[in-house]
Amino acid sequence: MTDVGRHPRITLHALSEVVEVNGTVGNFTARIVKKARYVREKDCTSCGECVKVCPVVYPDEFNVGLSSRKAVYKPFPQAVPASYLINMDECLGRGCSKCLDVCDKKCIDFHMSDEEVHEQVGSIVVATGFEPYDPREMDEYGYTRFQNIITSLELERLVNAGGPTKGELVRPKDRKHPASIGFIQCVGSRSKQKGGEYCSNICCMNTIKSALVLKEHNPDLTIKVFYIDIRAFGKGFEDLYNRSRKLGVQYLRGLPGTVEELPDGSLRVAVENMATAKVEFHDLEMLVLALGMQPAPGARKLQEMLGLQLTPDGFFLEAHPKLQPVDAATRGVFYAGCAESPKDIKESVTQGSAAAARAVRLMHKGEIATEPITSEILAQHCKSCGKCAEVCPYHAISVDVKRKTPAVVNSAACSGCGTCAAECVFGAISMNHFTDDQINHQTDALLAENPWEKVVAFACNWCSYAGADYAGVSRLQYPPSVHLIRTMCSGRVDEKFIWHAFQKGAPVVLVSGCHIGDCHYINANHWTEKRVAKVRKKMEKLGIRPERLQLEWISAAEGIRFAKVMTAMEALRQTVTAAEIAETVSAIESRQQ
Ligand code: FES
Repeated sequence: MTDVGRHPRITLHALSEVVEVNGTVGNFTARIVKKARYVREKDCTSCGECVKVCPVVYPDEFNVGLSSRKAVYKPFPQAVPASYLINMDECLGRGCSKCLDVCDKKCIDFHMSDEEVHEQVGSIVVATGFEPYDPREMDEYGYTRFQNIITSLELERLVNAGGPTKGELVRPKDRKHPASIGFIQCVGSRSKQKGGEYCSNICCMNTIKSALVLKEHNPDLTIKVFYIDIRAFGKGFEDLYNRSRKLGVQYLRGLPGTVEELPDGSLRVAVENMATAKVEFHDLEMLVLALGMQPAPGARKLQEMLGLQLTPDGFFLEAHPKLQPVDAATRGVFYAGCAESPKDIKESVTQGSAAAARAVRLMHKGEIATEPITSEILAQHCKSCGKCAEVCPYHAISVDVKRKTPAVVNSAACSGCGTCAAECVFGAISMNHFTDDQINHQTDALLAENPWEKVVAFACNWCSYAGADYAGVSRLQYPPSVHLIRTMCSGRVDEKFIWHAFQKGAPVVLVSGCHIGDCHYINANHWTEKRVAKVRKKMEKLGIRPERLQLEWISAAEGIRFAKVMTAMEALRQTVTAAEIAETVSAIESRQQ
């Protein structure tokens, strides 16, 4: 943090909030609200005289409420910038003015107000961190009822030499040194009812580390850990786990059902020991809840601001889990740390470095190379309806609906999914390298001979087409009647392509893409789903069996599924008669007239 504060080419906006981001890769504009500190940053020498005279006392957030702070304070000892700030919601203001009187440098300024700053940046790294799980929801563990139950974060501050007790472990209720302590794992993690269903990644190792620290302080301390399973999968972690066992830390498999307080403030834990299949009672003088990680509270707001995606758990979704683990689907945006998923310090540092390198790599040339596959507006056909702008997952199209000016594509932001072209009913958008003509000519070519023997399958480049590849390299067989037409995304599959295939005599048409939530173009396949449903309804009205149009989600790793789906398509093809195909062709032709 100090290095960042001192770096000549880094501008640090502390106590600030990004409220709006406009623009695209290479040219973002961020609107930032800098909150007033009421202490002039440049003049403050951190002498601390103001703190001594401030009469207002509040719980210190940095020490999780285990100590207090004043209304004029430093958020944490190593804060950068090191100057103090005043919380005006707590300050008594001019009626008190003690800090104002005592400050030699005259850096207190009650007239300061929030400032708005605009920053022009080329790329953005989202590093919003996480929020610890709120254990008040799990009342069975009695966190709100019994004082000697603390969270892993509170323990962290208690055993820290710079913490409220200078590193001494004491019970909150009577400040006694406990002779025994228990840890309950997975509080707010791996649960369908409370917290998240995911593993929070750090809790096992954090507990093991805390147990080792406690054993260092007091080798006679009895430590019991109640767990589902211990996940010690990092470098040297198994070693630490074994070391803690050798030092006498007891690991009991099973999560407690209830916790009761005994008259002396100790806690009785009822747990079914999975090793013995018996209910056991353990009396402990203190209990620690190993809290899970939750997404940062502002994640959803930021997601909307930057056009990002969230996983069902609420963390940010990366562009690709293996190949682009720090990139967002929106070009020029990267993730670092727990914004993307729960991580430990080492992983967060690794990801932060990777994100910084990716951001710099993008910027260092001074120019951005655009994708060759982008959409182009055919201004003479554009009716300025705004549909393309509505469906674009990257907000890369702008259109002035009121003035009726043709839509404009920002090719730096366009990623080439083709959803705009597929949704434009006026034919006013052309997709470079995947034009309507190019795709329809492929259909013509493959249905030129014996069309009744063929299944036309539109497959997205990233998942279904790759799934076909995977089926191939896995030596899986699928019927030769299936013919693939590649599009970058299933979102590119225009209604016209489907009608064209049926008109050319295709017995079955398959549209196939990435699973919902996995589309490489954020949410473009949601539009595919809607479009296919719409075409099916139209087919029904025309007397065409709607099941002849199929929609399947197949990922790049699902070679077996790909082969199965294609076999099912062939079975479906065999049910379509020549008469049915002829009726379909004439129904479509009469619809066109
Ligand atoms: Fe596969 Fe969009 S990229 S469906």
